[in-house]
Amino acid sequence: MHDIVLILDFGSQTTQLIARRIREQGVYSEIRPCTDPAPASAEAAAGPGRRLVGLVLSGGPASVFGDDAPPFDEGWLDLDVPVLGICYGMQLLARHAGGEVSPARQGEYGHARLALVEPAPLLEGLDAHEPVWMSHGDQVTRLPPGWRRVAETPACPVAAIADAAGRRFGIQFHPEVTHTAPGERILHNFLFAVCGARADWSMGSFVEEQVRELRAKLGEDHVICGLSGGVDSSVVAALLHRAIGDRLHCVFVDNGLLRKGEREAVEAEFQELDLHVVDARALFLDRLAGVTDPERKRRVIGHAFIEVFEAEARRIGERVGGIRWLAQGTLYPDVIESVSFRGPSATIKSHHNVGGLPERMEMDLVEPLRELFKDEVRRLGVALGLSEARVHRQPFPGPGLAVRILGEVTPERVAVLQEADAIVREEVRAAGLERELWQAFAVLLPVRSVGVMGDARTYEQTVVVRAVRSVDGMTASVARLPWELLERVANRVINEVRGVNRVAYDLSSKPPATIEWE
Ligand code: XMP
Repeated sequence: MHDIVLILDFGSQTTQLIARRIREQGVYSEIRPCTDPAPASAEAAAGPGRRLVGLVLSGGPASVFGDDAPPFDEGWLDLDVPVLGICYGMQLLARHAGGEVSPARQGEYGHARLALVEPAPLLEGLDAHEPVWMSHGDQVTRLPPGWRRVAETPACPVAAIADAAGRRFGIQFHPEVTHTAPGERILHNFLFAVCGARADWSMGSFVEEQVRELRAKLGEDHVICGLSGGVDSSVVAALLHRAIGDRLHCVFVDNGLLRKGEREAVEAEFQELDLHVVDARALFLDRLAGVTDPERKRRVIGHAFIEVFEAEARRIGERVGGIRWLAQGTLYPDVIESVSFRGPSATIKSHHNVGGLPERMEMDLVEPLRELFKDEVRRLGVALGLSEARVHRQPFPGPGLAVRILGEVTPERVAVLQEADAIVREEVRAAGLERELWQAFAVLLPVRSVGVMGDARTYEQTVVVRAVRSVDGMTASVARLPWELLERVANRVINEVRGVNRVAYDLSSKPPATIEWE
């Protein structure tokens, strides 16, 4: 029986962070849309095998008295568990308990200094003045009967409140963002001093439980899994292998657009799996001949992938007497997006690697990472014995090097880019920067320029180095790589890669550029 904290999402940009911060302290938490009907009891809210120990109401963009306030079943607040209201959630909690919320004369956005007014278990251990992060237009102007005001900021007299029983709290600032210095402490107080939660969420226990659940769910069935070598599919494969052994069949498609050494690395790391490496290089490069439009490239590659994967699945299926399940590396953020009360948001990537595959293959889906955030997937990978290099691998797009070769993709140009890219990655790794960069790679342009080598004039291709920092790939900034590193990369690429005589560095951020060039 695991403890769980539920977070009701009222639409804040940082709701996911609340869940992550709680999990970081070893307590499992999940996000539910605020529009979910209130459950009949705490047991019903928690679900089987879990004990509900607390409820968090997130922030949100609306006003509690505005027309745009999302509908909320206040039955949630009848559950007999501690509650922490953050920002909008605090205002909702205060109003529910009989307090008053009004528009502030002036909104408060950004840093503020929190001063303690009275002791409260939630704020135990905080210094008298602490930096916190504010973002609100409304505020609590009259306390609910029996509640206390426990902290203030210069612009917000009621910055934190507590009920008489010490079980319900509201804070106007955001403890989940790093700008709030005592945020971790406050969540710790809420989880352990107020809710009495146990820190029983760890990757070791996750593996045990998942293995048990997967065995129960899959029985003697066979499962197929597309293994790209990326973090998510690698962890899915390792977890399923732990659960069902050789009834998991992995397919790795060598589409001829992989980075140098990638296929060999996957073959070496996943020796224990029933791994089917399909050499489809000729097929992909054939289909790509003459294609220069970026979207068409992606479509051609997507279709070819499905074709190759399906054929291999059929072959394996015939051998083992049928495959019922398709494994996918869906993560918790995708799940949250799809159940959000705001509807699936525009942030869902349109370029999912195997879009359309599950419907076409008429298999049931098994998605063992559905509950996890990316950093948890990495920790799970380590717990399952994957290499550090694998679990911290930089993202690599499904269509591979094709979207980094502008113009036509030919075997010769793929070979040029593979060599140049290998140098970029090698040097970035040697400089100890691989982990801190979101991505660093090379791009090949369909541009020739004049150079001179020895006494001869050259007329060769151009390589662009791209290196960005990003948190989630949605936005990105240019990495300020050390000049010496850039020079070393440029020299090596020009000297070692035949057919390249010029190297440029991409200085664009996203937006307005994208990370990939196509
Ligand atoms: P863009 O180029 O859109 O890329 O700024 C954002 C992030 O997504 C990766 N990317 C892909 N990942 N399949 C993937 O799995 C794709 O088709 C794809 N296209 C882009 C890209 O590498 C970057 O990290």
